[in-house]
Amino acid sequence: MADRATTSPSRRDFLKASTAVAAVSTMGIARTAHAAGDDTLRIALIGCGGRGTGAARQALRADKHVKLVAMADMFDDRLQSSLNVLKLQADVAGKIDVPGERQFVGFDAYKKVLAMREIDVVLLTTPPFFRPMHLKAAIEAGKHVFAEKPVAVDAPGVRSVLETSRKAKEKNLSIVSGLCLRYSHGFQETIKRLRDGALGAIRVVQANDYRGSIWVKPRQPDWTDMHWQLRNWYYFTWLSGDFNVEQHVHYLDISSWIMGGQYPVKAIGLGGRQQRTGKEFGHIYDHHSVVYEFAGGEKLFSNCRQQRGCKGDISCHVMAEKGVAEVDERRFTITTDQGKWKYNKQDKDFYQVEHDELFAGIRSGKPINNGDYMAKSTLLAIMGRMATYTGQEITWEMAMNSKEDLTPEKLAWGPIETPAVAMPGVTKFV
Ligand SMILES: NC(=O)c1ccc[n+]([C@@H]2O[C@H](COP(=O)([O-])OP(=O)(O)OC[C@H]3O[C@@H](n4cnc5c(N)ncnc54)[C@H](O)[C@@H]3O)[C@@H](O)[C@H]2O)c1
Repeated sequence: MADRATTSPSRRDFLKASTAVAAVSTMGIARTAHAAGDDTLRIALIGCGGRGTGAARQALRADKHVKLVAMADMFDDRLQSSLNVLKLQADVAGKIDVPGERQFVGFDAYKKVLAMREIDVVLLTTPPFFRPMHLKAAIEAGKHVFAEKPVAVDAPGVRSVLETSRKAKEKNLSIVSGLCLRYSHGFQETIKRLRDGALGAIRVVQANDYRGSIWVKPRQPDWTDMHWQLRNWYYFTWLSGDFNVEQHVHYLDISSWIMGGQYPVKAIGLGGRQQRTGKEFGHIYDHHSVVYEFAGGEKLFSNCRQQRGCKGDISCHVMAEKGVAEVDERRFTITTDQGKWKYNKQDKDFYQVEHDELFAGIRSGKPINNGDYMAKSTLLAIMGRMATYTGQEITWEMAMNSKEDLTPEKLAWGPIETPAVAMPGVTKFV
């Protein structure tokens, strides 16, 4: 007969068992969810604005067994309006379960979401400044991530994202990037042809982003500086990176893809503000023009403008040994003296495809990691801003190793200055 001392669990056995449970909890999510007899993937949304609301809907449509269970925002009104919009979408309304106790607001809202062990996937859709810190915390907490572009506003942020992305690979966690054009079949097919040599050597890519201006949120009497800047985050470089980073990053990323994943060795540029000169537009520019050069001497001409009443064009033009190509959301053509090739298929909604692939990767235990290109393409855009703000030639090494950290002294409600508009020749590279 066994005595009690050998049959009753000792503290050592108990600790062993708890360690085993902890190990299981860091394994692939699908496996733990199945172990719990429930294959539902639980999603949280951090940043409940226009894009976040769209991303939440796409995530909820991407997989049969998903639920939105928590939401975080800086402001309660944004969170409530996002939740209300989502509840009105007949195709996803039944997958929303976000009671008051799982709605979080303020600077630390993301921490409260990430502390919830039951959450498997987080959607990071705040202004870009917060992305490196939210991404790092999400991967540390063992969550799969959808991260909107751009993923940083300065080089320390980019370096942090590269490091976090490496950790995500080690932990078998997904990072799917909101550089959604990468998930467009039209772009994939056209760029594959270019890389397979349809035009021979590519000499020049011109990336354009010409568009009108965007929203401004008029300052209210009870708003502190921080409140006003956060509501108008687009117009502050520390929050958005400036619009050549915030918006033009899409086609800069496409340009690098066209160049076979290369990033340029140097850049020189000019820019400024002509239409958006008022205080309500913070301190960002309204036009940037940058010439990047690759190691083999190929050029990337990057032009972006946000001014009303001017011609629009958001595209990449490729000039190569044997002809030219035009690449944008509606036009995929490759022209040589042998004729013109066109991508004629109806492209699927790439915003949906990126979520379909994120969830399929999680389910199959083969998580997607877009970390490398999303970080480097963000730096490509930041490097352009460094060139236009300073008027100096900026090399890739300078940009990657830059010490400029745009984080304000205090991340808290209250006073915060609007920086002076950058002045080429005066503003220093840091
Ligand atoms: N891939 C695309 O085509 C695409 C399209 C639109 C926007 N975006 C990206 O999505 C991001 C958000 O853009 P948007 O248009 O939805 O802006 P938005 O202003 O509508 O939404 C941002 C939300 O984040 C909230 N927020 C701010 N700081 C926060 C914090 N620290 N924690 C939690 N919430 C916070 C804001 O209050 C706001 O509700 C940007 O990075 C933008 O570039 C991508």
